[in-house]
Amino acid sequence: MTTRVRGGRYIVQGEAVLHGRVRISGAKNHALAAMCAALLTDEDVILENVPYISDVDSLADLLRALGAVVKRLPDGSLLLNAARVATFEAPTELISENRASFQVMGPLLGRYGFAASAPPGGDVIGQRPIDVHLSGFEAMGAAVTREGERFVARAPAGLTGTRVFMDYPSVSGTQNVMMAAVVARGKTTIVNAATEPEVQELCHLLNAMGARITGVGTQMLEIDGVERLHGVRARIMPDRIEAGTWAIAAVMTGGELFLDEAPWEVMDALLHKLRAAGAEITTEPGGMHVRGGRPIRAVSFQALPYPGLATDLHAPFGALLTQANGVSIIHERVFDNRMLYVSELRKMGAEIVSTGSSAIVSGPTQLHGTRVRALDVRAGAAVLLAALVAQGTTIIDDIYHLDRGYERLDEKLRTMGVEVERA
Ligand code: UD1
Repeated sequence: MTTRVRGGRYIVQGEAVLHGRVRISGAKNHALAAMCAALLTDEDVILENVPYISDVDSLADLLRALGAVVKRLPDGSLLLNAARVATFEAPTELISENRASFQVMGPLLGRYGFAASAPPGGDVIGQRPIDVHLSGFEAMGAAVTREGERFVARAPAGLTGTRVFMDYPSVSGTQNVMMAAVVARGKTTIVNAATEPEVQELCHLLNAMGARITGVGTQMLEIDGVERLHGVRARIMPDRIEAGTWAIAAVMTGGELFLDEAPWEVMDALLHKLRAAGAEITTEPGGMHVRGGRPIRAVSFQALPYPGLATDLHAPFGALLTQANGVSIIHERVFDNRMLYVSELRKMGAEIVSTGSSAIVSGPTQLHGTRVRALDVRAGAAVLLAALVAQGTTIIDDIYHLDRGYERLDEKLRTMGVEVERA
């Protein structure tokens, strides 16, 4: 298991040029949703390629608190068994650790007709409401009330399939409603569903467990409810955000990396922008090869729902643009507070101004090592990338945020030629 102690720091030596080969770990957001799906069956769910990151640990603790068995098997896969789930209330201190935890609501409600949880935690990246989740549960016949700090959803006679319109194509909202709907009576249609690859993978996993979901990958999911789901053994897809982070790092440092297992089939938007910035990228069945060239060209982009450029790559890409020739404009269209990295990069000498949901980056600038903070998982990735090209040493505090989403980060950096120490 990984450490979940707040704080921690990396000491990074700058002017690195990344080279070599790195294996992309299992996807955080797919793993977390798949772990919640295990609540839908009494049988074993065995997940391969689950990353060793702290978000997985905190969700595992939450599932255990509900009464599920969660353990790593000798081959590294994660076994989950929810036959003895004894409570349908997620403990507040555990739910506040990560946002994905709220996704226990859908499966608990669907299977047991009752679920309670405080609002989810996770990164401080904007309002992050849950209205879409709750209105989906209500549409299927649940009574949802606010009791103290908790949301309580009750459907003692079970849920009934219906047409659910998502006011916003929320990723975890779609997954939550879908996990309730797979065991509802009759047919549910989710209109304006999220189409992110991790949502598609969850559909495939649920279908492998006996669910009947069609329209996978489209904004309209049709779900025929079934009485029960069974166990499954499945593999977590490689993390497109980790792959994207390393691809950006290769370009930013003028290096060359082979990213083993990078899921480039679902990374078109990023590859398009990196090529526009001057990168050479070739893809093959086992991964992709990325080579940075000089000069890096300024490119503008918008962070959008899939298949647009992922909001989780906004901050790392913003860091890259400090090294690009000219002025780049960024629009964040998913979250209302993704700009936390801007102030940290400015401390390192970056010329970025942010105006609400937009940022203007002028480059190239020579960054310099200083003391900065990882303010959330992706803002942390942005300062880490900046530290790689900075002159001198950068101290990054609060790296527990990076531990939430990046497996063996310092170890991987060292194999790519970076001098980094964890303190
Ligand atoms: C998931 C990912 C996160 C990623 C994000 C967008 C997990 C655990 N996390 O987060 O890494 O950055 O998708 O790809 O999978 N919204 C509403 N009402 C709701 C729910 C969301 O308006 O009920 C809005 C949010 O305010 C935000 C937007 O939808 O502006 C996107 O949020 P959402 O797709 O729900 O992100 P998460 O599922 O939290």
